[in-house]
Amino acid sequence: MSKTDNIKGYENKTINWYPGHMAKAKRMMQESIKLIDVVVEILDARIPLSSKNPDIDELANGKYRVLLLNKSDMADDKKTDAWKKYYEDKGFFVSIVNSKTGAGVKATTEVIQKACQEKIERDRKKGILQRPLRAMIAGIPNSGKSTFINSFAGKACTKTGNKPGVTIGKQWIRINKNVELLDTPGILWPKFEDQKTGLHIAFIGSINDDILYPEDMALELIKILINDYPGILKERYDIDASDDDAVKILESIGQKRGCLKKGAEIDMEKASKVLIDDFRSLKLGRITLEVPPEVTEK
Ligand code: G4P
Repeated sequence: MSKTDNIKGYENKTINWYPGHMAKAKRMMQESIKLIDVVVEILDARIPLSSKNPDIDELANGKYRVLLLNKSDMADDKKTDAWKKYYEDKGFFVSIVNSKTGAGVKATTEVIQKACQEKIERDRKKGILQRPLRAMIAGIPNSGKSTFINSFAGKACTKTGNKPGVTIGKQWIRINKNVELLDTPGILWPKFEDQKTGLHIAFIGSINDDILYPEDMALELIKILINDYPGILKERYDIDASDDDAVKILESIGQKRGCLKKGAEIDMEKASKVLIDDFRSLKLGRITLEVPPEVTEK
């Protein structure tokens, strides 16, 4: 992202990013990427498109690629499967994981090996003894990088490298005889050219809520729910959600939840926060905010 990257909320509030942090994170990734065989990018299964930073395709050019659809426990299983297929069709090796409970995490070794099969075969033919595959975890903030590393590495992991006379600088975590992980994940800044992507990233807490208007977020969420999860709003808030006017629905939520200002005017900001909190705490159920571009049927 460049210095001028920003998104605009309503009333043209401009959101500025932090080019200094981004440049540093990118530099760190560029240095690390030289040392690894495979990049394991962690996506949030609730927003598999917006949580993927397209810059990484350039950064990881020539490396094997694995995508993990993390937080699958919070996402819609049917849509997660559709996203897995979507990215597999694009040539990625994809796994569905829940880093919090560890479900699917161990199987990542196998997925990494599959992704690197070509190298393994090549080395074998040349008679080169296979050293553990070296992987780097990357992803946008809050996608679950640290949680995944802790779960994947477990308690029994051993750190290698950084020993005097061995390697200077980088620390490797030995997962098993087949895989080593760089202990510092690559932080990818969320990238968005349009406001919708920015809002989706905000839903999952990757950017600070303060920089977006809650009403923008709530209205986007309502539109998705009306379209992809009909019935949920009526069920949760006992409102008439047959109208597809998102503003009216937000007003009804505010009314039902007693989000009122002086003079009985509805406090739309408060109502928005109720809805966003309910989404984040799974009170609306397991919801995926994005559908793969090719999938039209619900
Ligand atoms: P990061 O390094 O990419 O920034 O993300 P981190 O691991 O810190 O995870 C961000 C939040 O997401 C954490 O919650 C973490 O517990 C949660 N998380 C990670 N993976 C999963 C998953 O597969 N399922 C679910 N449900 N949650 C996951 P937190 O509220 O910030 O911390 P905590 O209260 O859980 O400790």
